[in-house]
Amino acid sequence: MTRTASIVGILFAFGFATAAYAASVSEGKALFLGEKYHCYTCHGKNGEGASGPGFQGVGKKYSQSEMMKLAAHRCPPTGACNPKELEAIVSFLRTI
Ligand code: HEC
Repeated sequence: MTRTASIVGILFAFGFATAAYAASVSEGKALFLGEKYHCYTCHGKNGEGASGPGFQGVGKKYSQSEMMKLAAHRCPPTGACNPKELEAIVSFLRTI
């Protein structure tokens, strides 16, 4: 009984974590395409690359924290992106 309850609890918590993650990925996509940071102008609307590099497989190449640093390179003024927004953008880029 207790075991069943804890399994249900774990699945429930996992569901929440997944939903929160999915929300930050879609938020990150919107920010990537938004005019506040206009990342897409150099990296392509689907992250396919333009004057800047594309992001295919970038999630395998870098860790989340490495990407946070790389993604801050064009933040106006340098390094001044909202960290939560940057984290959401990186979560999105890692799905490309
Ligand atoms: C003005 C053009 C421009 C804009 C705007 C821009 N980037 Fe970049 N980005 C580049 C170029 C060029 C590079 C490669 C050389 C470098 O790091 O400067 C790069 C590199 C990167 C890399 C490293 C990719 C790799 O494989 O090494 C990441 C991650 C990145 N950009 C994320 C972002 C994010 C997120 C935004 C929006 C907040 C953004 N960039 C806005 C031009 C741009």
